[in-house]
Amino acid sequence: MNLAIIGTGYVGLTTGVCLSDVGHTVFCVDNDIKKINMLKKGKIPIYEPDLEEILKRNVRKKRLFFTSSIKEVVKKTEVIFICVGTPPREDGSADLSYIEDVATAIANNMDSYKLIVDKSTVPVETGKRVETTIKRNLKKDVPFDVASNPEFLREGTAVHDTMHPDRLVIGVSSKKAENILKQVYKPLKSTILVTDIKSAELIKHASNSFLATKISFINAVANICELCGADVEKVAEGMGLDKRIGRAFLNAGIGFGGFCFPKDLEAFLWISKQLGYNFDLLKSVKTINENQKKTFVKKIEDALWNLKGKTVAILGLAFKPNTDDMRFAPSITIISELQQAGAKIKAYDPKAQERAKEILKNVTYCRTPYETVKGADCLAILTEWEDVKNMDLSKVKKLLKHPIIIDGRNVFDPEKIKSLGFVYKSIGR
Ligand code: UGA
Repeated sequence: MNLAIIGTGYVGLTTGVCLSDVGHTVFCVDNDIKKINMLKKGKIPIYEPDLEEILKRNVRKKRLFFTSSIKEVVKKTEVIFICVGTPPREDGSADLSYIEDVATAIANNMDSYKLIVDKSTVPVETGKRVETTIKRNLKKDVPFDVASNPEFLREGTAVHDTMHPDRLVIGVSSKKAENILKQVYKPLKSTILVTDIKSAELIKHASNSFLATKISFINAVANICELCGADVEKVAEGMGLDKRIGRAFLNAGIGFGGFCFPKDLEAFLWISKQLGYNFDLLKSVKTINENQKKTFVKKIEDALWNLKGKTVAILGLAFKPNTDDMRFAPSITIISELQQAGAKIKAYDPKAQERAKEILKNVTYCRTPYETVKGADCLAILTEWEDVKNMDLSKVKKLLKHPIIIDGRNVFDPEKIKSLGFVYKSIGR
């Protein structure tokens, strides 16, 4: 099939690349010409395992094309996926102006039936808005359908998640739209849930908010564990063995970050309020998440007494491993608070360092974990990268000024690390 993908961010690019790899002909559009030129040369603007290789393969096979012209692709394709950003506005609501712009541009160039599929994360009832926008801007009377097809891929495992999704959700209002989308996704052999458009839109916000709730729940339990001397890892294991709960997303830490959970939580709260429902539970999820970062800074302060003039070595800056994404990374708040208290920061991240430099100033960026810990008063772990997990700890001990590790991701076994002579504080144990 001939497919159009509008917007080449994480979701659009991964979807476009993967759908071309399963045999479709895909035209990816972005109004950022620099980005399009880069993609045409087979280079991706983000760090995402396997994505560049698959992109190159499909460009070579002439199944994957990049352009900045919506007009050109609307003419060539029947199914158009909207994958543009929906960034947060000051009041927490999602800025849907890019969606409106794209819907208008599609309508202006339609001369035959099109299925317009929204893949961007949007509040419930956006599908209706897209439909109205298209109707208003059509140049001639052509039939079309609007559908919602939320995306559940995670950064760092985006290719795997797209190729092997737990489920595909398609929200449609016609049998024709349902059949077309089923045909698009047939090669993935995944479970497809067909719903109405509003329910599909809600599934995305509800899923992300539920996962965020799981994380805040276990972080709250971790705080109780610290107060009474229990071990959150064991508690999570015991809870997770119950199939109704599951072990996933019960890793206590410094709180969730990234461009999805914090913004989707805000947007879900906002839309709930608009609809007349006070979603207090989500407010608590947010508060627990904010406090988790503050509690971590306190742990460092407790270990060092006064932060003024002390050097803290930070390992990991990205909001999670296997990504270079720094958006809403907990490291931003934690490092800023440490700096405000007078601490000097040395930092290392295997992939996110360049992006971090644009956000976090007055930081000494290092090339290796060992260079980072050298001479520092303590080590703080913020992202569970493999090369942090695999460090030679005896070397780390020799290089640190004092053998103190504050671990925000529970990377090490407390008993083992204490036996090596470290002062070790982690989360909830
Ligand atoms: C999340 C969802 O997992 C995806 O399903 C969704 O498609 C995506 O948002 C989106 O809406 O685009 P992502 O933000 O890439 O994916 O990353 P996650 O793996 O979900 O991690 C989010 C944050 O939660 C990270 O900061 C991570 O460190 C934290 N986390 C995750 C925990 O603190 N504990 C856990 O047990 C799991």
